[in-house]
Amino acid sequence: MAKTMIFAHRGASKLAPENTMPAFELAQASGADGIETDVQLTKDQIPVLIHDENLRRTTNGTGFVQDYTYAELESLDAGSWFSSEFSDVSIVSLDAFLRWFKHQSMFLNIELKTNVIEYKDIESIVYELLKQHHVLDRTVISSFNPRSLIRMKKINPSVPTAFLTSTKMINLVDYAKSLNANALHVKHRLLDKRLVKQCKEKKIKLRIYTVNRPSMMKKCYKLGVDAIFTDVPHEAIEQRMLAEKHRKD
Ligand code: G3P
Ligand code: MG
Repeated sequence: MAKTMIFAHRGASKLAPENTMPAFELAQASGADGIETDVQLTKDQIPVLIHDENLRRTTNGTGFVQDYTYAELESLDAGSWFSSEFSDVSIVSLDAFLRWFKHQSMFLNIELKTNVIEYKDIESIVYELLKQHHVLDRTVISSFNPRSLIRMKKINPSVPTAFLTSTKMINLVDYAKSLNANALHVKHRLLDKRLVKQCKEKKIKLRIYTVNRPSMMKKCYKLGVDAIFTDVPHEAIEQRMLAEKHRKD
């Protein structure tokens, strides 16, 4: 059975403000296999790494990401909401992140946040950046919005894509296949043996989010899912070592 990969969800987001450079650096230091991050577009069409469409929760700003230029967003404090220790942390652009990421030996999951606001051209803008930084061969693009995945495949059919969902659906695997997606990224409560089997049969990768509890980590490792997304990559690595040891004993 292949090793279950561990993706740091929004970086090591339990230890540092989500989707910021400290969270990504801690993910790398923890030994995570990959990083998951969320992308939205600014008013001047710069992809930035932030989970919410609205600035309120994770910065000292107000209003929507799409209503500000990147230069305006850069001056916001994106760390104090988490802890005063991170008051000098700002929103990072995808470009700035990739300048760091391309020197790391990790995988990347770019989640296009197009399920609330369907940002015009986000797919091609993100694709060009990934290409420019030579990371396309270790990146998967995911989205809750199937239209985003279809658009990405039109740009380049060989870019790996993943359909994201938290909704139980009878023919989920077939639906993902119909989008030409290469993987399914599903919420942990949708995970069962049957889904693992169907994904194996239909040759589609199965990755589970957000797995923070040791009991759920154990379940994922036991079922042999392809990857998990976790806010606590250091704990997931420890649990994976224990699971491997248990298997050998
Ligand atoms: O990509 C997995 C997960 O990040 C999807 O949900 O809301 O945490 O971006 P969310
Ligand atoms: Mg996400």
